[in-house]
Amino acid sequence: MRLLVTGGAGFIGANFVRQTVADRPDVRVTVLDALTYAGNRESLDSVADRIEFVKGDIADTALVDELTAETDAVVHFAAESHNDNSLADPWPFVQTNIVGTFALLQAVRRHGVRFHHVSTDEVFGDLTSDDPPFSELTPYNPSSPYSATKASSDLLVRAWARSFGVRATLSNCSNNYGPYQHVEKFIPRQITNLIDGQRPRLYGAGHQIRDWIHVDDHNHAVWAVLERGAAGRSYLIGADGETDNLTVIRMLLAEFDRSPDDFDHVTDRPGHDQRYAIDATRLRTELGWTPRYANFRDGLAATVRWYRENEAWWRPYKEHTEDAYRKAGERVLPL
Ligand code: NAD
Ligand code: TYD
Repeated sequence: MRLLVTGGAGFIGANFVRQTVADRPDVRVTVLDALTYAGNRESLDSVADRIEFVKGDIADTALVDELTAETDAVVHFAAESHNDNSLADPWPFVQTNIVGTFALLQAVRRHGVRFHHVSTDEVFGDLTSDDPPFSELTPYNPSSPYSATKASSDLLVRAWARSFGVRATLSNCSNNYGPYQHVEKFIPRQITNLIDGQRPRLYGAGHQIRDWIHVDDHNHAVWAVLERGAAGRSYLIGADGETDNLTVIRMLLAEFDRSPDDFDHVTDRPGHDQRYAIDATRLRTELGWTPRYANFRDGLAATVRWYRENEAWWRPYKEHTEDAYRKAGERVLPL
């Protein structure tokens, strides 16, 4: 099988490519990635001689057409993925997430290629503490430019499946954690602050809830959908990992033997979504998927170890990322 993986130098895509190369020697992987600030070829070093890497933009229709003509399936991870960046400058989100997905859909339509679209639970907006978790029946109600552009791309995929018969599936996953995640994101930002002897930075009071899943569990689910998912269908991916941000910070502080209050409250994110939670019944019952990382605390401890042992991977990005947060106006709030 020939597989084109877009965004394969990013956090989830690179973990997907390494997992695929290790588990499925019969799959020939080509990565298409623009190597934006979020892409890092070093994340693919261990498999570099077993894949083909193409540096390019998913919105480059000629390139996408050429690569799609030579593949059996496309797994589409490439995106602008960070909410805070989408608030500072939404344009790249519109361009990559919407226009880029459109370019891929036209190419898979033309060549009759199987397509899997990787999306997020953030397309559903947020929940209160009393709401039931998101399911495949929850209406779309995105809050941020990031989630609005991901929702737009999902709707394009659904339309191409229905109107043009494209063999497409979608998955909407909750927040991922694990190795090779950019230091701008919540968990790696705090881990690397702690390695540097700095204080973690909590937005507002930290009562927001995310449904954490290990990136390897997400990627096993993507394979389950790719192999056994029904065309035109969406699958929600989540591992019952609901935890509020304050608790995550305290779990990390404990990993570093620091006091539970040794963190800063900083400026909250405008429009900050309160709670995400996933009901993954369809994925579990129809496709037989179960998560392997049953315990968030253990997965987090393993992730801390990875960042301690792989400083050369993240160090070049740390200072610039913290600078960007400062320039965006983040400041420590008095208690
Ligand atoms: P990431 O930001 O770490 O990686 C994105 C990758 O896409 C990078 O390698 C980047 O270079 C590449 N890219 C960006 N624009 C491109 C373009 N125009 N052409 C080609 N490549 C381009 O993102 P991630 O966290 O790995 O997320 C991957 C996918 O999973 C995204 O679609 C995201 O919406 C979705 N998702 C992420 C999470 C999460 O918790 N991180 C959860 C659910 C779904
Ligand atoms: P993030 O990793 O940006 O993912 P998302 O916005 O997709 O959920 O943030 C996860 C949660 O952590 C979110 O509620 C915002 C919060 N957060 C902080 O409290 N401090 C931080 O430094 C960052 C980056 C995020």
